[in-house]
Amino acid sequence: MAVEINNVAVIGAGDMGHGIAEVVLLAGIPVHLYDINDAAVDKGRQRIFDSLDKLASKDRAPADLVEAIKGKLLTPATDLAEAVRGADLVIEAVPEVLDLKKQVFADIEAAAPAHALFASNTSTMSITEIASATQRPDKMMGLHFFNPAVLMKLVEVVRADETSDETIAAGLALVERLGKVGVLVRKDTPGFIANRVNAAPSTLIGEIVERGEIEPEALDAFMRFIGAPMGPCELADYVGIDVAVNVAKYFARTLHPDYGPPAHLLKMAEAGDLGKKTGRGYFDWSSGRPEIDLSKATIKFNPMAPIFLQINEATKLVEDGVCSINDVDVALINSTGNPMGPMSVGRSISRWDLTDQLEQLAANYGKVIFGPTQKVREGGHKH
Ligand code: 3HC
Repeated sequence: MAVEINNVAVIGAGDMGHGIAEVVLLAGIPVHLYDINDAAVDKGRQRIFDSLDKLASKDRAPADLVEAIKGKLLTPATDLAEAVRGADLVIEAVPEVLDLKKQVFADIEAAAPAHALFASNTSTMSITEIASATQRPDKMMGLHFFNPAVLMKLVEVVRADETSDETIAAGLALVERLGKVGVLVRKDTPGFIANRVNAAPSTLIGEIVERGEIEPEALDAFMRFIGAPMGPCELADYVGIDVAVNVAKYFARTLHPDYGPPAHLLKMAEAGDLGKKTGRGYFDWSSGRPEIDLSKATIKFNPMAPIFLQINEATKLVEDGVCSINDVDVALINSTGNPMGPMSVGRSISRWDLTDQLEQLAANYGKVIFGPTQKVREGGHKH
């Protein structure tokens, strides 16, 4: 029988954890929000309250629900056992360190009820590997939210090797109850769908900036000009330069070294310039969101190149049985705020053009991962 989820514990109150807790609370479900000390948990709680006030002031959240959340639905916790003791579902959102996640789940399991489901919000890592730290891999899935969780619609529901049908059904039902768009990731694969499809374009953009072909501000101004809500450099700052480095390193280790982070990104991470959270990254965030000078927009690269790479990368996932072509567009539209998915755009591009463009990108940037897949060569990206 499917587990009914009436009580959730969120482990980690940082950028993602506090946002996930807020989304669950907004569905009227009580949440225990855990972090390692009072300062971390208080900061997470304050961020939830600030965001709720913003939503309530725009009539996007009912005032009585906001009051109920503040009064009783949210319970902050610094004792892990206490946080998970009554949970039907535990969602982990701790830093992207595999051994840490495994240890956290071993500790969670020691205190959680036997029926409780477990989920990781990892951006890229193997859910199967994380599940190996527990005795209930059938009850473990990925629930991958996007930043800011309260506004981004997508949640990827990831089936790991041993996840049961009941667990997946409960995950999908919860995502619907949260008012989000769920996409089932049918096979555990690095980066799931959205982050994986964006892996090759991110590699290209990192390379373009690394080579000094375009300044970050000019690049972001251009991407904003063509309709993106945030340029790629601002987005990296927003999500965290440390997160961007971890994601790239994980892809490099598990898929191909070509996906590795560019030198300038590593240097920023080493210097502690992690973007929004430290006040400085590609841009200065010390007095809020950076002002991008839109007049600096320059066309120094083909704006279709990231889309060609998304399409190519997506064909690898479809070939591997991770998702359908339609799932790719649903995932990309709902995780980025872009109005159209790459696969719909790709329907108007011939296989010869796409193959040619990808071959040129692979040669110009010395990246075999940019090379066209067999499916692209055969025109299979359209079906
Ligand atoms: N809570 C409540 N309201 C919020 C909010 C929050 N946390 N954050 C922003 N808002 C509100 C603002 O107050 C503003 O309201 P207003 O229009 O009434 O003034 C509104 O949202 C829009 O915010 P801004 O004016 O600051 O700026 P934007 O219009 O650009 O919207 C954004 C902000 C929604 C973040 C938008 O820029 C966007 O969609 N950016 C792309 C985000 C994205 O791609 N996320 C995915 C990252 S990848 C990821 O997370 C995966 C992980 O695994 C790495």
